Amino acid sequence: MIKLTKYFLMVVLVLPVFFGCTGNASTVKSDDDVEKRVESLLSEMTLDEKIGQMSQVDPGVFGGLENLKKVVRNGQLGSVLNLIGAKEVNELQRVAIEESRLGIPLIIGRDVIHGYRTIFPIPLGMAASWNEDLVRESAAIAAKEAASMGINWTFAPMIDVSRDPRWGRIAESAGEDPLLNSMVARAMVQGYQGDDLSDPLTIAACAKHFVGYGAAEGGRDYNTTVISDLQLHNVYLPPFKEAVKAGAATVMTAFNEINGIPASGHKHNIRDILKNEYGFDGFVVSDWASIQEMISHGFARDLKHAGELGLAAGIDMEMASRSYNDYLKELLDEGKVDMEWVDDAVARILRIKFRLGLFDNPYVDESLADSLLVNVEHLKVARKLAEESVVLLKNENQVLPLKKGTKVALIGPMANQPYEQLGTWIFDGDENDSQTVLEAFNAFNGDNNVFFAEGLEYSRDKSTKGFAEVERAIAQSEVVVAVVGEEAILSGEAKSLAELDFVGAQGELLKLAASKGKPVVMIVMSGRPAGLFKTQHLAKSILYAWHPGTMAGPALANLVFGETVPVGKLPVTFPKGEGQVPIYYAHKMTGRPADASTWTHIDEIPVQAVQHSLGNTSHTLDYGFTPLYPFGYGLSYTSFEYSDINISAKSLSIGESLKVSATITNTGDVEGAETVQLYTRDLVGSYTRPVRELKDYQRVTLSPGESKEVVFELNSDQLGFYFPDGEFVVEPGDFHVWIAPNAAEGLRAEFELQ
Ligand code: NOJ
Repeated sequence: MIKLTKYFLMVVLVLPVFFGCTGNASTVKSDDDVEKRVESLLSEMTLDEKIGQMSQVDPGVFGGLENLKKVVRNGQLGSVLNLIGAKEVNELQRVAIEESRLGIPLIIGRDVIHGYRTIFPIPLGMAASWNEDLVRESAAIAAKEAASMGINWTFAPMIDVSRDPRWGRIAESAGEDPLLNSMVARAMVQGYQGDDLSDPLTIAACAKHFVGYGAAEGGRDYNTTVISDLQLHNVYLPPFKEAVKAGAATVMTAFNEINGIPASGHKHNIRDILKNEYGFDGFVVSDWASIQEMISHGFARDLKHAGELGLAAGIDMEMASRSYNDYLKELLDEGKVDMEWVDDAVARILRIKFRLGLFDNPYVDESLADSLLVNVEHLKVARKLAEESVVLLKNENQVLPLKKGTKVALIGPMANQPYEQLGTWIFDGDENDSQTVLEAFNAFNGDNNVFFAEGLEYSRDKSTKGFAEVERAIAQSEVVVAVVGEEAILSGEAKSLAELDFVGAQGELLKLAASKGKPVVMIVMSGRPAGLFKTQHLAKSILYAWHPGTMAGPALANLVFGETVPVGKLPVTFPKGEGQVPIYYAHKMTGRPADASTWTHIDEIPVQAVQHSLGNTSHTLDYGFTPLYPFGYGLSYTSFEYSDINISAKSLSIGESLKVSATITNTGDVEGAETVQLYTRDLVGSYTRPVRELKDYQRVTLSPGESKEVVFELNSDQLGFYFPDGEFVVEPGDFHVWIAPNAAEGLRAEFELQ
């Protein structure tokens, strides 16, 4: 018996180590090992090889695979983006491993933003789920699918706080709030990277765009940003800090300038804050040619100068442009850049390659993709996340959910658009996998109960020639479901809009639908919060679906017919119109806070009004001061009542915490889940503080009539904030705290921080 045990232990524990297979594909065991290997490899590298590691190119732009092979063979390339296909990746990787002097593997990058082949909702939609586990799971699936195609590294998550719906890239963000962006940052980094980056089915994440890209003036992409240090530290940086804490392997710099310095040349932000203060030990990649673009910014004289500024700022790898490749040697000779910076950059890149297990296991198993792409389990998660991302904004007379078998007129240009429902940045998504609303309605409700007439061929269509068919469809139905919005191409990079109303004749289409006396349910597919101000009165119910991805149809059919109950909450404030932008819940008080009693709507102002007869507070005469829908807002098919806010202590000292609780009751007829939000306000600060800040949230599921006490623990650290110099300070004083269904409502209590 004893002998057997010893023998058994030797087989299980010793032999695998001897043969280098401990159940983990990689032999990299600890950071110490990695550091030793990095150091030793670095000491063998020539300057050319080091500079090569710092360059990333796209085969399309670089003249194809054969051209690439030459530079790879010479050890002059560290990374490729957009090389497609497991076989092609292996072919190039083989050149790097077997034919280059040191056999350093390439790291293969790609934009895998909200799914690889299985497309999940756009990131703004994911954020609307407020469901960290599901977001993490979606990223883990995206990682598996991408890894099966030889991708080692995604350029996601994008965690730019975005407060401007005109900005097309709001679609790729988690919206306006630093805490929600931090949640998405953490969930996605953990999902892509898993527990072990060397697992062949995980990939490196890239937190982007460092930093402030979302503050583009006028919502115009790439535009100038002016960001105070107070905002930088309290609004734009926290999601990056969280991404680094979660272990993000890489960070990408942004295209914009901040207060006169391009983000890709910002030494203080990259070296001092990201690398030194946050202790980020992965590598920083530029955005596409963003080093070269410092010339257009008027910050660099020429490409050589741009390279000097990029390296000085701390960019380790240059994407697409060639300033490092062409000029680093010269710059070193001239003493304009330090060899130390080069060594540090290369060490960072190698470190991530080691952590990824690329030295030990550089090739992808070419048979993996067959079982991983469009796997049924992946589609289930995509459907679930799509369901949870949809926000019910309105449901008069409880028009929703519809009973199965209801005669439905399904209209609108987005109802049967397999490609458009996928949203922006879906390089590898396939519209043939998509299930549309029309298909899902036919399947669920019976095609004899669905009368389809899109009315407009596409969102921008101004022709009303399809309206007669719409009228015929409505005539045969009890309810109209109008799927409107904007196609994928109208949001995303460089897809900003000055106007936020629905484009084309969609307003007219909705008017026509509403004129027939039957309830109209509006489903909006869009990359931004928009379009509703002039049309929402035409619909009894509104489901805001963003771009829901591959499984849009089944998710929306389940919601419309009550198979599932909406849980989404807005990750961004809905403005009444573009004139109200920027509008976000965490604004400041001002010296003359807005107040309903001092606001006269423009239409109510007497012709002969004199200045002092109108209230002088912070509002606009036309829109007032409230948004169309506040941050955090979202209804359910049931209703929830908030009562009995309780606070465990009236005061707490620095270093302590207190408990805040409230009772949430399901006062409706069906089971539902509510995302309960915790907000605070610091009444007086050394710097003025926002009127509310989201501090935490919890989801509670309740049967009809059921009540639960929701308890939050609030510690004094959550009450501090960054001073403009970046110091985190917890200031004593009075606070308000809310337990709330959204940023504009809730139960309030008070306490003092001593
Ligand atoms: C430019 C975009 O800004 C960035 O987000 C993306 O990752 C790169 N191009 C690579 O495609």
